Amino acid sequence: MIDSMRKIKQLFSNTSVDVYFDSTFNHLSKLVDKKNAVIITDENIFSLHGSKFRNWNVITLKPGEAFKIQLTADAIIEQLIGFEADRSTTLIGVGGGVVTDLTGYVASIYMRGIRFGFVPTSLLAMVDASIGGKNGVDVGAYKNLVGSIRQPSFLLYDYSFLKTLPNIEWSNGFAEIIKHACILDHSSFKLLINNNLQSIKKDKKILTSIIEKNVVLKSSVVKKDEFEKGDRKLLNFGHTLGHALETQYELTHGQAVALGMVFAAGLSEQILGLKKSVEIIQVLSQYTLPTIASFDAERVFNILTMDKKRVSDKMNFVLLKKIGKGVVHPIKLDTLHKYVSAYSHLNKASK
Ligand code: GLY
Repeated sequence: MIDSMRKIKQLFSNTSVDVYFDSTFNHLSKLVDKKNAVIITDENIFSLHGSKFRNWNVITLKPGEAFKIQLTADAIIEQLIGFEADRSTTLIGVGGGVVTDLTGYVASIYMRGIRFGFVPTSLLAMVDASIGGKNGVDVGAYKNLVGSIRQPSFLLYDYSFLKTLPNIEWSNGFAEIIKHACILDHSSFKLLINNNLQSIKKDKKILTSIIEKNVVLKSSVVKKDEFEKGDRKLLNFGHTLGHALETQYELTHGQAVALGMVFAAGLSEQILGLKKSVEIIQVLSQYTLPTIASFDAERVFNILTMDKKRVSDKMNFVLLKKIGKGVVHPIKLDTLHKYVSAYSHLNKASK
């Protein structure tokens, strides 16, 4: 068998992350000592790929965002004590964003911090959730309210996990891929608009090149501003309204972010004169993401103003100067309120 694995190193402020592209799960045993490692995964991954975990210490979580809470972190810590995990133990999150966020969080606080790495299994985790070092848990309606920023030691990409990925998870991942293209890279946007979900799913070469490009794109933003004082905020494009919608309605993360991006693209058109914002709607549709929804503007606005991006009476909103160039733009809360209200009515009218 030809070994196609490629290793790159990403350097952050006080650490480096080894990234293994096109690797296999079995390669993990070369990166860590099985006896001194604990894998954290969820029931879905375990039932689909259980044989891979033979002879590993495994903690299996209930799947879903509803379990990304402190209670789950406490339960993991109890089990780590049961495994006699100590400062030399490595935690490995094998799963999607909920698993990687919880693994990074627990690894940051257990014994004041132990080594950890990720094997992202969903497209969303491969291109976004496993990169950047932000981890944490939700508290009530507030997503990621508690957590820390700490980089994993390694990321291992085994693309065979994508074979069992449900359709909805594909579009979730593409929401973040489209986001990266909108804020950072016009050529990626062109590639996406000239293809669609089905064509890319069938073409491993193009798919893996998109994944690897997105790892580099996201890492480049994080490296410049790991602790989110400035440019890292760009990665929140579509997420401010998106998070508020996600907590109030039955939407996946990708669906909520897609609606948030449509809103932010509209704002960009009105405030910054963005041209061709309709192409953003077009590309989202090509990746089976929603572009219209009706919602309760007051309810959503109240949640939105609790967002961590709020600074007194303004909200730092990510807008687009053009496709491929995001900017952080402060918007007064009363102005934002009008826009949110107009957007929710607009969507009601166009249903
Ligand atoms: N863990 C995702 C991020 O740091 O952005």
